Amino acid sequence: MQNAALRTAEFPRPDLYARVRHHVTPMEWPAMAEDIAAIERLKRTRGAIVLAHNYQTPEIFHTVSDIVGDSLALAREAAKTDADVIVVAGVHFMAETAKLLNPDKTVLIPDSRAGCSLAESITPADVRALRLAHPGVPVITYVNTSAALKAETDICCTSGNALKVVESLGVPKVIMVPDEYLARNIAAQTDVEIITWGGHCEVHERFSVADIAEIRAAYGDVTVIAHPECPPEVVAASDFAGSTAEMIGFVDTRRPTRVALVTECSMADNVAVHYPEVDFVRPCNLCPHMKRITLSGIRRALETMGEEVTIDPAIAAAARRSVERMLAIG
Ligand code: 13P
Ligand code: SF4
Repeated sequence: MQNAALRTAEFPRPDLYARVRHHVTPMEWPAMAEDIAAIERLKRTRGAIVLAHNYQTPEIFHTVSDIVGDSLALAREAAKTDADVIVVAGVHFMAETAKLLNPDKTVLIPDSRAGCSLAESITPADVRALRLAHPGVPVITYVNTSAALKAETDICCTSGNALKVVESLGVPKVIMVPDEYLARNIAAQTDVEIITWGGHCEVHERFSVADIAEIRAAYGDVTVIAHPECPPEVVAASDFAGSTAEMIGFVDTRRPTRVALVTECSMADNVAVHYPEVDFVRPCNLCPHMKRITLSGIRRALETMGEEVTIDPAIAAAARRSVERMLAIG
């Protein structure tokens, strides 16, 4: 059925379909191909680029995205782009970060309801209370937070640079919010004392040591790599932990025969395309926020130039400073 459809002269963009064929049926593809063609046209007329997070679905990740990466890469690329319009195929805090770094550009998010359980877990008042409880201790904010929260803090971090950021401050104690598990996983690698908060990623907190044991029992020779938003005991039971880009880097350099990516569902789908010789075990949990972003939503965003991301000027300067301090660390 699939091969027959691929052979027909009318089948659109077989080059792109080859990258998503394990996830998109030939029946679904023509409507997606139409959205992709429209997005390609609109990107040219609007002077737009699409930044996509590694958790976006393959039909976004492998077709219309100009830049793909982890939160750190997307922030770095947002800081560099000369496009007039940036469409963020990711969650709201990622779009806010792009806007902070591009105050004069138009930043669009296809669905502004694409939130994050970490960003929801803490308020600016909570950070002020932490500062009162721990006077003089610098506050590091995970980028998975609102601009209002970033404005209250000294510096941002991502899962890809958290250890470096903690150690860059040259102090014996820091506050790192809001991800308790990321903070504990970093604390295990440094002498710096880390005070944290009780926020969790709703995707990664669901993985357990029993899940890892089950994977190892089912696939004896498997290499298990986990995201550091997972509970510390899950990270301890894994062979490697790192940001989504670091997970891809691990697969790229080590080329394990079989690997389990303990993270969001789309990661393995996206990465597997580039490593056909690696067997991917997929113990995935879905991020409902990331999945609010669709091809048709990206098309609509470029057609209507909405939803535009705006940031209250009263908080933008302080929030930008926290992000720029992080980027300056390199
Ligand atoms: P990174 O891609 O920076 O590892 O972040 C993972 C994540 O959960 C983003 O929401
Ligand atoms: Fe937030 Fe977790 Fe979803 Fe990332 S995967 S956006 S941290 S809920």
